[in-house]
Amino acid sequence: MKDRTRPAAADGPGPQLGRVLLIGGTSEIGLAILAALPLGPAAEVLLAGRDEDRLTAAAATLPCRTTVLRYEAAEPGSGPALAAAAFHDGPVDLVISAAGVLTPQDRLDENPGDAAVLIETNFTSHVTALLALTARLRAAGQGTIVILSSVAAIRPRKANFVYGAAKAGLDAFGRGLADALDGSGVRVLLVRPGFVVGRMTAGMEPAPLATTPEQVGVAVAAGLAGRARLIWVPGSLRPVAILMRVVPRRWWRRLQR
Ligand SMILES: NC(=O)c1ccc[n+]([C@@H]2O[C@H](COP(=O)([O-])OP(=O)(O)OC[C@H]3O[C@@H](n4cnc5c(N)ncnc54)[C@H](OP(=O)(O)O)[C@@H]3O)[C@@H](O)[C@H]2O)c1
Repeated sequence: MKDRTRPAAADGPGPQLGRVLLIGGTSEIGLAILAALPLGPAAEVLLAGRDEDRLTAAAATLPCRTTVLRYEAAEPGSGPALAAAAFHDGPVDLVISAAGVLTPQDRLDENPGDAAVLIETNFTSHVTALLALTARLRAAGQGTIVILSSVAAIRPRKANFVYGAAKAGLDAFGRGLADALDGSGVRVLLVRPGFVVGRMTAGMEPAPLATTPEQVGVAVAAGLAGRARLIWVPGSLRPVAILMRVVPRRWWRRLQR
């Protein structure tokens, strides 16, 4: 039986993995994806983020060369600047777009300004950074972009509808980008995890079908090794999402979380 936990050398990005950019360089899920990839000593990982100490600590866990790039998602112009910095010393083969915040809805209700930061971090910054990176990947004629969407993108829940709206925007962007890049040599892999137990969800009761950063990492590595353009983690979320779409609204709005 084929081992889906490690990318296959022949059809995945494995042997070609030279330079990998993780946007949200301290992301638990992003780092778990890197841990599941066949990063040889010749590879270089670029960790982009805002907290240099934590980025340096994350870099120390990786088995290859690393570079830390300063990136503040909410700063105007940060996307194009990041693309220029990432490609400065050579082409990038894999981009993992993992920046995000999950601000509780009640805090957004009290401080609507925080909603702008959430949307900037979970949606707008991905669009500007990925468009700038796409131009360079397209020129190189190769590369892969992994976008961390969410099951929250499928249907807004009253418990976190601003986050859901931002993820729905990101999800739509990811699908459109994938179509726009068809035939260019650049591939988009859209990832829709469910509830992931970790830093972002600390203190929250795990939802049904909850998963872990490590499981997402293994699933993404397997998706990259094959030809997948969209993966759910866990895979059993896919049929659940079909049901989520058709639940009558009068029932849907009763969901407390
Ligand atoms: N955890 C879940 O249940 C879950 C489920 C589905 C999808 N996702 C998505 O998966 C992605 C990764 O999530 P995760 O679980 O790995 O969360 P995480 O560990 O909290 O990582 C979030 C990353 O975003 C970065 N970030 C936040 N605000 C930023 C800003 N203004 N500028 C630059 N970087 C910023 C964080 O940097 P700092 O270290 O500086 O804060 C961190 O690197 C997110 O897009 C999330 O929405 C998560």
